[in-house]
Amino acid sequence: MKTIAVLTSGGDAPGMNAAVRAVVRTAIAKGMTVKGVRRGYNGLIEDDIIDLGARDMSDIIHRGGTFLYTARSPKFKTEEGMQAALETCKKEGIEGIVVIGGDGSYRGARDLSERGIPCVGIPGTIDNDISSTEYTIGFDTAMNTAMEMVDKIRDTAQSHDRCSVVEVMGRHAGHIALPLGIAVGATATLVPEIETPVEKVIEKIRTKQQQGKRHFIVVVAEGVGGTDALATRIMDETGIDTRATVLGHVQRGGNASVRDRVVATEMGYAAVELLEKGIGNRVICQRKGEIVDEDIFEALNMKKSLDMKLLQIADTTSI
Ligand code: ADP
Ligand code: F6P
Repeated sequence: MKTIAVLTSGGDAPGMNAAVRAVVRTAIAKGMTVKGVRRGYNGLIEDDIIDLGARDMSDIIHRGGTFLYTARSPKFKTEEGMQAALETCKKEGIEGIVVIGGDGSYRGARDLSERGIPCVGIPGTIDNDISSTEYTIGFDTAMNTAMEMVDKIRDTAQSHDRCSVVEVMGRHAGHIALPLGIAVGATATLVPEIETPVEKVIEKIRTKQQQGKRHFIVVVAEGVGGTDALATRIMDETGIDTRATVLGHVQRGGNASVRDRVVATEMGYAAVELLEKGIGNRVICQRKGEIVDEDIFEALNMKKSLDMKLLQIADTTSI
């Protein structure tokens, strides 16, 4: 391939910039031309394409967000949108695309690949919920941000003898909530994968209260829902002054951690190695610490389950 493109799609994640940088510089080192597609698949539909040189990648390795912008593009899922995207590829001479995003973005990459534009997916989402890989770019930074925020909340909860119920991101999964609950020593961690009766949480708080504990942290994944109602119920049934905090988008921002910068760079490099050989329809994964690749169709058929051992550890160490 002589000309490839790179885009970021879906929710932004710290480390996406480092991945784009690695793609651009690796491709240039291999003699290719690289184009940046702005605002995810919308940029393909609207022909919003920029040329990217090695020096354009200066000063972005650390930055959160994505300088290519990102978007969710419902139009791309229509035949009209897809045809417009293919037309842009033809016009711009794009022979292959590196797509950095989550499972949804992978589906778009699969559809483009099926229509003759080989794509390689790189897992970029703070949620760490992509089945084919043990790690997604952005997760480490988001986890550290969330941990720092809860540490701050703990200071005030401790000072006032309060219970703080903290909601973290994860619309469908508890991959953020569960390790975070362990890292902050939460009394209870609620994830969408496992139904936890509120009575059980209250019972645990009561038991610890009787043992002399006076402040509590409860971590709830966004996908569980009802964070405010949970806080109210804890307050009503235990008499402990309780506050709810939704961490929200603060978890998606900020400079990328060492881990995210390094993994992003390794994955960007690996993606270009595939396209250089003319290989598309693949996604980059981390397995047992190694950077490998997987067929995109296979990847989309995999299921990622929550680490049950981690759940058991969280339960045991929070008595
Ligand atoms: P993420 O990549 O973080 O999972 P989304 O699910 O929002 O984020 O997907 C990002 C974009 O990928 C969507 O806006 C859409 O353009 C494209 N996409 C998502 N699902 C599909 C699908 N089933 N077929 C084709 N394209 C899709
Ligand atoms: O990036 C994934 C994610 O953070 C989910 O955990 C969350 O539900 C969603 O994005 C929210 O995204 P937005 O507010 O951009 O729609």
